[in-house]
Amino acid sequence: MTAFNSLLHPVRINSRITIPGNLFLAPMAGFTDAPFRHICIANGSDLCWTEMVSCEALSRESLKTKKILIRAENEKIYAVQVFCSTPESAAAALKHILPFEPFLIDLNCGCPVPKIIKSGAGSALMKNPQRIMNIVKALSDSTDIPVTVKLRSGWDAQSINYLKAAEYAVRGGAQMITLHPRTKTQGYAGKADWEKIRLLKAETDVPVIGSGDLFSPAACLEMLKITGCDGVMAARGAVGQPEIFKNTKLLAETGELKETLFSEKIKNAIEHLELAFKYIDGKVAVNEIKKHLCSYIKGIPGSAAIRNRIVHCNSFDEYKSVLGEIEEQITRALP
Ligand SMILES: Cc1cc2nc3c(=O)[nH]c(=O)nc-3n(C[C@H](O)[C@H](O)[C@H](O)COP(=O)(O)O)c2cc1C
Repeated sequence: MTAFNSLLHPVRINSRITIPGNLFLAPMAGFTDAPFRHICIANGSDLCWTEMVSCEALSRESLKTKKILIRAENEKIYAVQVFCSTPESAAAALKHILPFEPFLIDLNCGCPVPKIIKSGAGSALMKNPQRIMNIVKALSDSTDIPVTVKLRSGWDAQSINYLKAAEYAVRGGAQMITLHPRTKTQGYAGKADWEKIRLLKAETDVPVIGSGDLFSPAACLEMLKITGCDGVMAARGAVGQPEIFKNTKLLAETGELKETLFSEKIKNAIEHLELAFKYIDGKVAVNEIKKHLCSYIKGIPGSAAIRNRIVHCNSFDEYKSVLGEIEEQITRALP
């Protein structure tokens, strides 16, 4: 495969702030906590988003919400995503976000979860571009930290309005736009329509980041190439596969498509396990790490049986012992 080195580059937000590269980890509620962001950064991600945090909960000083904002030790560029439904709640939450010293603050306009939509936040905002503008303005008027926005293509197939929503967001002061080109109604089904990312890039002056169906290094480079967007955000494709970032860089630099060895997958799984118990309270970590570990072992011979054992683990030691055994078996099987 040809090398595509020119596709990877810094993303300039404004005269003060430049992100050193353009391969990001997308925000994912329930997934992009500090341990996962730590391992993605160690594997080459240039920027990671926190899980979305509720502005209302921040203003209530919810401890659970504040815990979502724990910063990873290797996270030099720290980026927080928030969700809310009014400019007032966004502005009120700001003073609780600033002590974490984020580099960027993103407004979620894409979450399709019914509870979030009912509150008027997430993808409900796609129905009201004016409100997106007002929320962005409330944030940008009160801080120098760049405010960015993550959009879907619209509410449903009959109301595709991402270009209008982006225009209003920029009018409110948004300094970067991410597009996940599926409608709210689509959820995560079907194919993301990358052509909409290309159209948005052609229409927008601020950097445009693409999201949707980035499951491999080749897909990340392909999106950059065919849409001309400034950067890409891997989401589901990074779960159990944080090496997607460094392998994308390798592919761009050398043209070499590296297949991840099972031994590397287990090494990452063990490191992620250790990070989970370092950053998170033990009882919570037992549950939080399970889904990640099940993802790391996908494709490994005998994965169904291993998965069954992981599902029943209740402590760090139990997880470590299962992963240690698999590591030993893989090492023994190597020529
Ligand atoms: C489990 C899960 C949680 C997500 N949580 C968020 C979130 O908190 N904020 C957000 O903007 N997008 C969220 N997303 C959307 C992703 O950031 C991304 O835009 C979407 O998954 C498309 O990328 P993909 O097809 O490569 O997975 C979530 C997606 C998944 C699968």
